[in-house]
Amino acid sequence: MRIVKVFNDNWRFAAEKLELNAPDNEFEPVVLPHSNKLFSHRAVDSNDYQFVSTYRKKFRLPEERKGRRVFLDFDGAMVESTVYLNNQIVGSHQGGYTPFSFDITDYLGSGENILTVYLDSTERPDVPPFGNLVDYLTFGGIYRDVYLRMVHPCHIHQVFARPQNVLTSPALACDIRLSQYQPDLVVRGILRDQHGKIVASTQQAVGSETLTLDFPAPLAVELWSLNTPALYTLELTLFEDTVPLDTTHHRIGFRTAEFRTEGGFYLNGKPVKLMGLNRHQTYPYIGAAAPARLQRQDADILKYELGCNVVRTSHYPQSPHFLDRCDEIGLLVFEEIPGWQHIGDEAWQSLVLRDVKAMIERDRNHPSIILWGVRVNESPDNSALYTRTNALAHELDPTRQTGGVRNYLDSEFLEDVFTYNDFSNSVVDPIHTPHLITEFGGHMFPTKTWDSEDHRIKHALLHAQVQNLQMGHDKIAGAIGWCAFDYHTHREFGSGDRICHHGVMDVFRLPKWAAYVYQSQLPPEQAVVLQAATHWTMGDRAGGSNHRLVVFSNCDEIDVFMADTHLGRFQPDRATYEHLPHPPFTVLWPPGFNPWTRDFDDLRIVGYIGGQAVAAQRIASDHTAHHLKLDVDAAQLWADGADMTRLIVKITDRYGNILPYAIYVVHLELEGDAVLFGENPLPLIGGQAALYVKAGQTEGTITITARAPDLPPASGTLALVEPDS
Ligand code: GAL
Repeated sequence: MRIVKVFNDNWRFAAEKLELNAPDNEFEPVVLPHSNKLFSHRAVDSNDYQFVSTYRKKFRLPEERKGRRVFLDFDGAMVESTVYLNNQIVGSHQGGYTPFSFDITDYLGSGENILTVYLDSTERPDVPPFGNLVDYLTFGGIYRDVYLRMVHPCHIHQVFARPQNVLTSPALACDIRLSQYQPDLVVRGILRDQHGKIVASTQQAVGSETLTLDFPAPLAVELWSLNTPALYTLELTLFEDTVPLDTTHHRIGFRTAEFRTEGGFYLNGKPVKLMGLNRHQTYPYIGAAAPARLQRQDADILKYELGCNVVRTSHYPQSPHFLDRCDEIGLLVFEEIPGWQHIGDEAWQSLVLRDVKAMIERDRNHPSIILWGVRVNESPDNSALYTRTNALAHELDPTRQTGGVRNYLDSEFLEDVFTYNDFSNSVVDPIHTPHLITEFGGHMFPTKTWDSEDHRIKHALLHAQVQNLQMGHDKIAGAIGWCAFDYHTHREFGSGDRICHHGVMDVFRLPKWAAYVYQSQLPPEQAVVLQAATHWTMGDRAGGSNHRLVVFSNCDEIDVFMADTHLGRFQPDRATYEHLPHPPFTVLWPPGFNPWTRDFDDLRIVGYIGGQAVAAQRIASDHTAHHLKLDVDAAQLWADGADMTRLIVKITDRYGNILPYAIYVVHLELEGDAVLFGENPLPLIGGQAALYVKAGQTEGTITITARAPDLPPASGTLALVEPDS
């Protein structure tokens, strides 16, 4: 049977190209995922990570491997990997976003093996997305997981599970490709629900290298949906007569997903207006080398903190951990191939086709994925190339539609869905349907967490306006805003600090007010949201005052008070945002009320649902720093030398509201077997900042203490526990 080992620990790394026989002491020990360089939070220079590095790992194979083929599986390494085993070249791979594998059986020795990877992390013009400018940083390193896989020479190579007649009489067809054919093979399939209970089983004799194993109708399965994302595990075992040779497991879901020509998107036959954001996979300090926990957390943030039902993996296939989490929580995904505006020569284009294949073969069992992006984002039309990418996508996955993101309306429509970046700041009428807005906002309104109140409100309302308009337009399937999180970029883009401040959250995934436009669309049964877009000053807006108070909330009504003076009861601004499930509130002061003429005092807002007070926010009128807060996202980490969680540091008023102009430097101390990744001392930006704590390999407690002048210290703890095997 197959043995798969996570192959992330005990690597050595050198930030240069070393000889194959260079001594170990020229390397530093590292654990994957790994960034070839750590960064300060300040401007990142893309030249700093563009070099060739050397990774080395020494290993012995377990006894059980006898008779098996041995593979090395890389989930992703940026940009070109050349792999040697025991001084012999095994192979190379170009491209940083798709997985690759090598059969290393014939290179293995009987004792210690030495694996070397030369990793070229330069922007290689011959490899997508490079060849021209790109508005994001790619970073370097073996930044995703690596596995060692030991399998019988005759094993299960690929599986595509295709649910059938899902809405009427569900069945399952499993396309299976074996590594090789041999006589007397049988494949058995078992379908289990989330509790491990067997739903169905079937088996079939194997007549060739490829076969389709059918689970006949009707299968008693629950549908995968946004609110109840039911998942099933397909277990396949390959037998030679009665001897099992290989077993694989695949998580799947039963659902239909369809963009219809009349306009809308339908999940399981029911219309769903898509509302989402784009995600880049990069982080401060660690580039793209984020372990599973952080990848999964991004999906949670998009679903639960941003109320999105869809995400676009701009502009490349993203981590399997991120996609797994999207399956688990019911977050739809538009996944696309690597690229940005530029199309290279024929060899470059053949890598585009290779990427389409790699993306679809890797990900077609994810129920969350509803659309394949088979064009280089915003590239010029290219009939020949995009006819081929479309045909290939349809051949590899006849169950899903294709899109291809463009930013001009007269572009040649070769795909199934017209996926369009609409920077009109409203919404343009579709020429083709189905029509999905895949970007808006972004560079049209860059916004920092420390911009003025006016600016941050306008940014939030731009998102409210576009989402409102698209929701009212029945020819538009949905809108995916640019973007979820601020991201690092080249000097030709961004605000001079090499960051595109285009997110509704900052690079640390901390919210700007626009985040609450999205979050407040959640049904209140899921989370009651109430956030005033003000710091309750009289002097931060042009012209002074804080008249027209904007509040993002999913409450039915709100009461607004200054101290004990009731300023009125208000309803959502349905006149302006009639299509949003929960429009923002626009609060106008009652006639005669002028905070300047009386004692300026604290703001208090109370939110009601069905007449019951369910939420409240108070904002202090003295704007004095009262608390230094330290939030640790995870209560425990795996003691595997790679796991990470975020530490958020904030300065707040007495009620817990962030003070965006509190200029503080915070000192952090850490006790236990872990390291801080980030700046220490940490300058706060917009009253807040974050860093990461990375686990060591010894179990125990980690304590972190933060200190800032004139405020009581804050501390947090987390436990390091034995990794799940
Ligand atoms: C788009 C592009 C995105 C990003 C965005 C900024 O044109 O597709 O990657 O650069 O602009 O608003």
